Amino acid sequence: MFRLEREGPLSAAPRERWNSRAGFVMAAVGSAVGLGNMWRFSYLAAEHGGAAFVVLYLGFTLIVGLPVLLAEFAVGRGAGRSPIPALEHFGGARWRWLGWLFVVTGFLILAYYGVIAGWTLRYALAGLGGFGANPGEFFAEVSTGGAAVAWQLGFMALTACVVVGGISKGIERVAVILMPALFVLLVFLALYAATLEGSSLGYRQYLNMNFAEIFDREVMVQAAGQAFFSLSLGMGAMLTFASYLDRGHDLKSESVIVAASDFGVAFLAGLVVFPLIFAFGLQADVSGSTVGALFITLPRAFAEMGAAGSVVGVLFFLGLAVGALTSAVSLLEVVVSSAIDGLGWSRVRATFVLAAVTAALGIPAALDLDWLGLMDQVAGNLFLVFGGLLLSLLVGWRMADPIGVASEGANSTAWFAAWRWLLRFVVPIILVLVLLGSLSATLELVATMGVG
Ligand code: TRP
Repeated sequence: MFRLEREGPLSAAPRERWNSRAGFVMAAVGSAVGLGNMWRFSYLAAEHGGAAFVVLYLGFTLIVGLPVLLAEFAVGRGAGRSPIPALEHFGGARWRWLGWLFVVTGFLILAYYGVIAGWTLRYALAGLGGFGANPGEFFAEVSTGGAAVAWQLGFMALTACVVVGGISKGIERVAVILMPALFVLLVFLALYAATLEGSSLGYRQYLNMNFAEIFDREVMVQAAGQAFFSLSLGMGAMLTFASYLDRGHDLKSESVIVAASDFGVAFLAGLVVFPLIFAFGLQADVSGSTVGALFITLPRAFAEMGAAGSVVGVLFFLGLAVGALTSAVSLLEVVVSSAIDGLGWSRVRATFVLAAVTAALGIPAALDLDWLGLMDQVAGNLFLVFGGLLLSLLVGWRMADPIGVASEGANSTAWFAAWRWLLRFVVPIILVLVLLGSLSATLELVATMGVG
């Protein structure tokens, strides 16, 4: 059982630390930037009126994402522990349950995230030989049976190799190299996409404003959910990363940098995906499922591009795999740090045991797409939003001095009062609406699965 005294962790070893401020920021950006930015964002923008969705998403990043991100940072750094003891530290013994929910959510998300990440790795490799004329068939081959399991296990092994290195020597080192590389890669791909004939149709769709969509409640709920998911909120990943911080950091500016980078990468990804899809007239192909659009429609565009398509496609899927790796690392770190703090395990033992457990948990998702979809819906939409809602209530209403804890290391507390106000009154209302949306979507999904 997880048992922890308020005073300190069981193990006598001092807590690990980030090497530099930039390292921490890159690792947090690495967690945030993933399949969500590079793919889910473009897909939602395409479905919901382009710029209208982008503007809403930016707005919700500011009024929901940023406050909750700062709340996670404040709780993590303030307690200097993994989620379960950190929440107990600020909320009392009953709040440990929220910490448990975080850990369970981390397990579940990582389990299926590893499956999708495995597909991206396989696509990056297969693309070297050119994207075939029948991407639907290829996807069926990649996403079923032993092949899907093997690539998922490979990806999990890669994730474990990063996490076992620890905070500064594993996670930070990898993020500091891979995040700037990913950014450069996306800029390159966006520039290349701009040279394609017909790309202007894509920009027109992406950047033109359809005002009617802005006031659509369904679009708002989707945009708020996306802002929240894209910043990796609601399960203690950002909290855990911040628990390895010194007190000298200004958490307000760290949060702004992370949120801005996350939005920037999503926007940039849109500048890659929209022109690509429209240049090849594949827009009608996109509707349907997010997974189909990413793994079937885009490869179709790469195939049409001939030799250049092979290069661009490999780089694109490699970028996705990189984004997925740095996100998966933060998911695994949540459960690993919980076992180190709570059970007194060594990092090596915690990493390999827990990575193996998660990998096993992901096998059903690797073998069955319906199961994967259900895990995503329940953990990725429902649990995350619920966790974020409770966290904002804890920090907004229950914590004794959230402003004092969050503003340590900052020059002024001016913005923090506005932050607390948002956490108390605005964030909970919006998250309740998103939660209701997720709940009905989950019930719908379960109903259709029961029938099928
Ligand atoms: N933010 C990640 C992405 O955009 C996905 C994600 C959601 C996540 N919640 C998370 C990643 C928690 C790590 C931890 O793809």
